[in-house]
Amino acid sequence: MTVPEFQRQKEKGKKLVVVTAYDALFARIVEQAGIEAILVGDSLGVVVQGKQDTLSVTMEDMIYHTRLVAGAREQTLVIADMPFMSYQISVEEAVRNAGRLIQAGAGAVKLEGGIPMIDRVQALTRVGIPVMGHIGMTPQSVNQYGGYKVQGRDENHAEALLADARALEAAGAFSLVLEAMPADLAKTITQAASIPTIGIGAGPDCDGQVLVLYDLLGLFDDFTPKFVKPYAHLKADALQALRRFKEEVECQKFPSDLESYH
Ligand code: KIV
Repeated sequence: MTVPEFQRQKEKGKKLVVVTAYDALFARIVEQAGIEAILVGDSLGVVVQGKQDTLSVTMEDMIYHTRLVAGAREQTLVIADMPFMSYQISVEEAVRNAGRLIQAGAGAVKLEGGIPMIDRVQALTRVGIPVMGHIGMTPQSVNQYGGYKVQGRDENHAEALLADARALEAAGAFSLVLEAMPADLAKTITQAASIPTIGIGAGPDCDGQVLVLYDLLGLFDDFTPKFVKPYAHLKADALQALRRFKEEVECQKFPSDLESYH
């Protein structure tokens, strides 16, 4: 899956499916499932590193996880998140840091923000780095919002988000993540944009959907937003397996003859 192929899916009316992954094992599983793109999300700060938010994720963290994912997959498009403070300071820093993610194996980068980030998006696309935009509830602005809150509920804010989407497309973004916004607004943006919109908490009318892998597998349950649907319950399965292992070691049922060398 290349960036132009990813974009063509919108013309074909085929829904795009994106999930996050942070390591080689899950990257291979995601690819086997036929998912179109893997996002190496800075959500790794929460689900892998155990932090409260994504703000402490560094470029080194993103490069390390992007290498693991990109080295394991064969066909799937890899999109790497630009972490907090890797692109906000200047256009030059944005280009340098995006370039490092591409050198680590990503096929595209994602950054958060609308009109204020237009010069970054233009500069990156000018040097051949495809950019996915991200608007709505952008987790790197959690302190400004005072929590993870749905965005674009009032008319003025909804219009501002539509303007952000239009500006990002005009600047060269190849796709847009729409996060935590009313479904009607996401539908309006999707109809107005000729690039694919990928929703997360943005209703059914986006051109595709993305979820954090550990949420959809039921591995991470510290905090479950309304928009998450667990398709498996791997944390419960893991707990059951570990408890059984402990029990069997304690009562000397494991290892048996079957697991022993003679
Ligand atoms: O970091 C991430 O995983 C994301 C998705 C939730 C869109 O940005």
